[in-house]
Amino acid sequence: VPLILFFIFIFFYLQNNEYITKPSTVYPYRTRTEKENNGPMIKVAHHKAYVIGSYVEHRLISKTIQTVAIVFRSEEVQYYCLLCCDGRNISAAASLDIHSDHFGYDYGTADITCQVPTTCKTPAFVAITSQIHEGNGSLWNIQSFQPVGNQQPRTENFPYAFTVCISVMYDYMNVLGLVQAMEMFKLLGVQKVTIYKTSCYPETQKVLDYYVRQGFVDIIPWTVSSYIKVARGWKKSDSPGELHYFGQIAALNDCVHRYMYESQYVALQDLDELILPLKEDNWTTLIPHLEAIYQHRAGFEFENNIFPISIPSDWRPEDTPDLWKNVMGVNVLPHVYSLPNDPNKFNNFKVIVNPRLVFKTTVHGLLDSRGGTVRVDPKISHMYHIKEFSTQGYSETSLIRDRRLWDFANKLIPAVSKVLRQALNIH
Ligand SMILES: *[C@@H]1O[C@H](CO)[C@@H](O)[C@H](O)[C@H]1NC(C)=O
Ligand SMILES: *[C@@H]1O[C@H](CO)[C@@H](O)[C@H](O)[C@H]1NC(C)=O
Ligand SMILES: *[C@@H]1O[C@H](CO)[C@@H](O)[C@H](O)[C@H]1NC(C)=O
Repeated sequence: VPLILFFIFIFFYLQNNEYITKPSTVYPYRTRTEKENNGPMIKVAHHKAYVIGSYVEHRLISKTIQTVAIVFRSEEVQYYCLLCCDGRNISAAASLDIHSDHFGYDYGTADITCQVPTTCKTPAFVAITSQIHEGNGSLWNIQSFQPVGNQQPRTENFPYAFTVCISVMYDYMNVLGLVQAMEMFKLLGVQKVTIYKTSCYPETQKVLDYYVRQGFVDIIPWTVSSYIKVARGWKKSDSPGELHYFGQIAALNDCVHRYMYESQYVALQDLDELILPLKEDNWTTLIPHLEAIYQHRAGFEFENNIFPISIPSDWRPEDTPDLWKNVMGVNVLPHVYSLPNDPNKFNNFKVIVNPRLVFKTTVHGLLDSRGGTVRVDPKISHMYHIKEFSTQGYSETSLIRDRRLWDFANKLIPAVSKVLRQALNIH
């Protein structure tokens, strides 16, 4: 018996130790559905490199395959694509391009690009390797093939007008905020929301399941934190780790490629951000208006405005449905005071882009595109970023009252209540 107790002790000691030394792999609220188990992350054998998604690149002179990856930046590797073409295996040398926005972290987003040989009509699957493969393919034992997306380019008749890319969801428990964001997106004309999800609270998962059943939400399992020690911020000195903010930049780049021919426009933003037009009713009319006045098509920057949730407003508590009071999370509607932006300073922004003109994206704007982005006059449209934020240093009189969100309340309130009833079965 003492021996057994000793082993039990050792077992729990090791478990605990594991917990302490690898905090990034521990997610108390991790929930996954069956379908999600095979995430898009595939490790490249023998190297510190992870493949996320592969897509045909139709926009260059010759047809190539571009793979969005996360690589250890100092590791110099000659990669190869092993293409599965019309039932044959073909190996092709790849070039590696590490994106410049790695913020000094050891890992960074990269494009691994291969030319498609003229003998290959349909490169249906690809595996990224560090060895050239020739001759008898059946002995290679490569298990990392993944399907190649974007086989057929499209220039019109996109299934969706607007897709919102949400990178990255982790430990997410703002259930009311999530439903409000989804229903606001719908009012704005969005037809698809894609969430790169690491972990969330069980109630959040119920809401996600509801929207997935509806076909409104796609979940991309984001398992990067099981392989790489991700940082929880963007500044290396404050947020230790091996990769910038949960791998957000790789997720955004994957999203732009994934919806390139599915969606006319893609919005790269977070769940606590709303891009609202001030005069138009929705994005469907806003974007053509912007294209006309700016004579521009690649993408638009919407200036960030912070609405701290600590600032009280004249929202009447009786205007909040009783039903919402039993739901976790922040009601965005009362928060109508924003901090002033200094017009002489750089003000942050998020973008709505035509994905077919984008080669590389980053969190705030594009790294490589045809035409770049233009800043939208905040009087036409700007971003409402409703979050916890310190108001220290701001006088009460400098706050800006902006109640544009309330123009959507009549439609938003019943829509949110309906989802809460149906998804969470509360009454
Ligand atoms: C491929 O390898 C298998 C198993 O070793 C062998 O039977 C076959 O003849 C080889 N084919 C070619 C084309 O080399
Ligand atoms: C291609 O490579 C895969 C993985 O090694 C192998 O399973 C398959 O049999 C190969 N196909 C051909 C036609 O050689
Ligand atoms: C967007 O607003 C226009 C009118 O301004 C309306 O005709 C259209 O139906 C709205 N689209 C959506 C998706 O709500």
